[in-house]
Amino acid sequence: MQISETMNAAFNDQITMELQAAHNYLSMGAWLESAGFSGMARWMHAQSAEETEHAMKFYQFVLDRGGRVLLGPLDAPPSEFDGVVDVFETGLAQERGVSAAINNLYGLAVSEQDFASVPLLDWFVTEQIEEEATFSQILDDLALAEGGPHGMLFLDRELGSRIAAE
Ligand code: FEO
Repeated sequence: MQISETMNAAFNDQITMELQAAHNYLSMGAWLESAGFSGMARWMHAQSAEETEHAMKFYQFVLDRGGRVLLGPLDAPPSEFDGVVDVFETGLAQERGVSAAINNLYGLAVSEQDFASVPLLDWFVTEQIEEEATFSQILDDLALAEGGPHGMLFLDRELGSRIAAE
């Protein structure tokens, strides 16, 4: 079923948002690497790659339904952080923003009776629950680890190895 102009435009906005997330996570990875947290940096690089995959899911979906992919401009990513906690809090805030955007997109699909989009959006609703939970868990772990260097070192290694194992 050919995608409507309204849905096409909304999906294009979402593609840009996912690419912005990829851009932001790459910048966070660079900051973490420079600050000496190479495991967390690796984790962020993998997170960035996952966001590019998200963008490509929407990208391919628009094309498969006969729409046009028009990419929007990206903003400069955040590059200065007060510390590791600030990095992951910024990530969690970003994920909450993405969840809200997916929610709006779902609402639009229903009001436009564009039910062909529902399976894809269902996947993203579930994915966003996982994304927010992951960032929240890391922030909880950081709160426990912040007391001393050993905790931070352990967490850095753990996050780095989790990605390596995937
Ligand atoms: Fe694609 Fe993490 O939202």
